[in-house]
Order: sequence, then C-alpha cells, then structure tokens
Amino acid sequence: MATLKTSVLGIEFENPFVLASAPPTALVESIDKAFEMGWGGAVIKTITPDDLEMVEASPRYASIKEKNKVIGFQNIELLSHKTIKYWCDGIRYLKEKHPTKVIIASIMSPVDRNAWRELVLRLNETPVDAYELNFSCPHGMPEKGIGMAIGTTTEISTLITGWVKDVATKPVFVKLTPNVADITRISKAVERANADGFAAINTVQGFMGINLDTLEPNLCIDGCTTFGGCSGEIVRPIGLRCVAQIRQNSNLPILGMGGISNWQDAVQYIAVGSDVVQVCTEVMINGYGIIKGLKSGLLNYLEEKGMNSISDLKNIAIDKIIAHNALNKNYFVNPNIDKTKCVACGKCTKICEESEYSALSLVEREIKLDKEKCQGCSLCSIVCPQNAISMEH
Ligand SMILES: Cc1cc2nc3c(=O)[nH]c(=O)nc-3n(C[C@H](O)[C@H](O)[C@H](O)COP(=O)(O)O)c2cc1C
Repeated sequence: MATLKTSVLGIEFENPFVLASAPPTALVESIDKAFEMGWGGAVIKTITPDDLEMVEASPRYASIKEKNKVIGFQNIELLSHKTIKYWCDGIRYLKEKHPTKVIIASIMSPVDRNAWRELVLRLNETPVDAYELNFSCPHGMPEKGIGMAIGTTTEISTLITGWVKDVATKPVFVKLTPNVADITRISKAVERANADGFAAINTVQGFMGINLDTLEPNLCIDGCTTFGGCSGEIVRPIGLRCVAQIRQNSNLPILGMGGISNWQDAVQYIAVGSDVVQVCTEVMINGYGIIKGLKSGLLNYLEEKGMNSISDLKNIAIDKIIAHNALNKNYFVNPNIDKTKCVACGKCTKICEESEYSALSLVEREIKLDKEKCQGCSLCSIVCPQNAISMEH
C-alpha cells in the first residue's frame, strides 16, 4: 500500500497538498475549513508588520479563458489585512484543533532588521511549523522596496535570510520569484545564507491586455491598470522550469507550485524535485473540494507505478533535463500518419511548407512524407486537427 505521508525537515505532512499563501488562506476560519476537507497544510496569506499600509485596488483580478475555463489568472492583490496578533492566536487555535496539519507563516517586512526580527520573534511563540519569506510579490510591494524588489537582488535576499535565520526557531523557506534571468543566482545566495529550503514560484509578472472595444486595460481600475502577477495553468511550464533549475543546484527541500490544477500536475512538480506542492489559483476557481481528487489521483498513480511514497517519485525526471548541447543529435523522429484518422485537410502540408521544410505533400487525398526533407521537428503532429500524426523513432 502506498502512502501520501511525507516528511520535510522533520515536519510531518499527512499528504503533500498545501494551500499556497493567498486568499484561500486569508482567514483562520477558511484554513480551518480547508483542513477539515483534507488539505495537508496551509501557508498563511503573507503576514506583515501591523503598520505596513495595505490599500487594495478594485477590481484586482483578471483572467484568460478558453472555452469558459480559466487557464490564466492575474492579480494585483496585496498581503494579509489581519494583525500579527490575529495570526498568532489563529495559529494556536488551528494547531490545537488540527495537530496533524502543517501551518507555515508567510512573512514580509520592510528592509529593516528589527522589523523582520519582531515578526519572527512574535511567531516563534506559536506552534507554527515553518516560515516562508515572501521575497517575490511582483506588484505593489516592489514600489516600497520589498516583495520582488528583495528577491531580485542577491545582496538583500541574503541579508534578510540571515536576519531571519538568526532568530527563527523553525525552518525557513525562501519563496522565490520567477521574474529574474537566473533563479539559481538567488537560490544559491540564500542557501549560502543558511535558508533551510525554497518555495517556488510566486506569480509571473504580466499584462492582461486591452479591451478592443473600449481600448481600456482588461484589468481596469478607473481607466488604468498596473502590471500584475500571473498564475494558473499558463505559468506551469515556468514553474516546472524554475523548480527543476533550483533542484539541479541544491539538495534542500522545495515547496513547488505554479499552475497546479490536478494530480497529474503535482506528479510533474514532484518528479522535477518538489518535496510537497502548493496550490492557489485552482482553489480560487474551484474551491477547497479539489483536494479529494488530488489525493486519490496521486495515491492511485503511486500504486500503479509500484511506488511506496512520493519520495520514490521525487527527482525522478531531474537527470533527464540536460543542456541542449548534450542532447543526442543523431536521434530522429518522423511523422507516422494514421490513415484511419486523417481527413486529408492539408493543414500539416501547408504548415510544413510555411515553416521551412516542405516535407509533407497531399497526393490523391493521402499525405506523403519526403524523408530526405523531414527534419523531425514534430510541428505537423502538433497542428493536426485530427490527432492523426504521431512522431516515431
Ligand atoms: C490573488 C492572489 C494572491 C496571492 N497572494 C500571495 C501572498 O500574499 N503571498 C505569497 O507569497 N504569494 C501570494 N500569491 C502567489 C501564490 O501563493 C502562488 O505562488 C502563485 O499564485 C502560483 O501558484 P498557482 O498557479 O497555483 O496560483 C497570490 C496569488 C494570487 C492569485
């Protein structure tokens, strides 16, 4: 029998599904409900010093939909509106009621040693399991010199990690921003400053576009907008890449996230090095109840693969991600056309011609392949509307 139980730096998770720091963790009663419904842990919506101003814009969300399904999300929301006392009391209450659940305090302060210390010292007195340093919020906070403004510089990230590590009595995870040229520059720097692990990724900075009728921004606040943080399915390739890059350079634990909407996504995050995974946007769109399918799907998958626990799955794909110049350039694939599916629409031949190779042609309603011309790029199999083309070695 496989188990979803897992342990990270001595913190026991009954399952690897954790609510990310965001609106679903903005209230004690919400976290309480999520725990009742089966989530393994929660990262509290980022806690800040009580005097840090937090004035929200309205509206603050926008989305990209495909067939009415949200595939991309953007927010310009700020941090927790609750006081430090609210969260200290809340953590005590939640831990007493749910002793087997993991509670991580996400925190952010101005770049001031005393302010960071004060926050940690207050939270040290609670049964919180770990800290997550939010060095990565891409909107609102960077204008104050914090959030992503911290996580894009090695110097300030290192400095603050050191301040927190000096006083923290629980493990310290640094939440990294993908909005940098090389995420490992920051991950290596905070590891040198004794961070205990990483959380990645926070949202990807983006612009949600313009309404063609009104010519106003899609996320429009009284006629204007601001760059915001993108999340959901559209950011998953970025999140997976960042987690893999961090893992290739470190053995520390990683709380992986970014576009996880089902158990299959979670499998991929674990396979590239995540110890546990966090979910935000999918919960905001479909509610806490998704935990049921996440847990059963992952458990069934482990059993089908003959794996005992997620540690058997962790890192399994990491050695398969190598440098471009190390790829086997003698390896070729060619399109194989399933004649029972092909309707001779000619899309593959047109695209192949217009995108360099002209290796496919339509002769008497049949697709012919010129093997000499084919470079095995796989574009034909991607554009075929009938899924009639597979690439074969
Ligand atoms: C509305 C909203 C608010 C968020 N607030 C926070 C926050 O307070 N602190 C934080 O570290 N991350 C915050 N995030 C980022 C998420 O924790 C997460 O890193 C990101 O959304 C990627 O995961 P996802 O694709 O599952 O949403 C927020 C995200 C959203 C969508």
